[in-house]
Amino acid sequence: STERTLVLVKPDAVERRLTGEVLRRVEAKGYRLVALELRTATADLLDEHYAEHRGKPFFSPLVEFMMSGPLVAAVVEGERVIEGFRSLAGATDPTVAAPGTVRGDLGRDWGTTVVQNLVHGSDSAESAAREIGLWFPGL
Ligand code: CMP
Repeated sequence: STERTLVLVKPDAVERRLTGEVLRRVEAKGYRLVALELRTATADLLDEHYAEHRGKPFFSPLVEFMMSGPLVAAVVEGERVIEGFRSLAGATDPTVAAPGTVRGDLGRDWGTTVVQNLVHGSDSAESAAREIGLWFPGL
């Protein structure tokens, strides 16, 4: 069925001028952009977005990284897009992500405390609804 998911082109990808490449792959797959915004996230928004990671050792570095520069937030629509975008993004760790995926093709190990892995995609229908409400309250 047709779903919506929240995609973030993270600050590392924006800094590396990969926004267009990521969005090109999303559109080439046949997904539709229904919302798109370049913005710098606040600590409050990221605290909510990453609520499930509160207390983990990488939480603070993760929030710092996500605030380190502008990111691109998008709502993407398509047939089974939640699972499909995660497949397109590849494994969380770019060093082992499969070739053909965003992280596998474009990701690298920066040796930081956070996995700087270029993109985020909601991991379930529940997460997608929650995250879309957080980033695009008007939608
Ligand atoms: P994302 O899909 O945005 O969800 C949580 C993020 O935390 C993840 O991508 C990575 O950027 C980061 N992350 C996940 N696991 C770890 C880990 N074990 N160590 C450091 N960063 C992580």
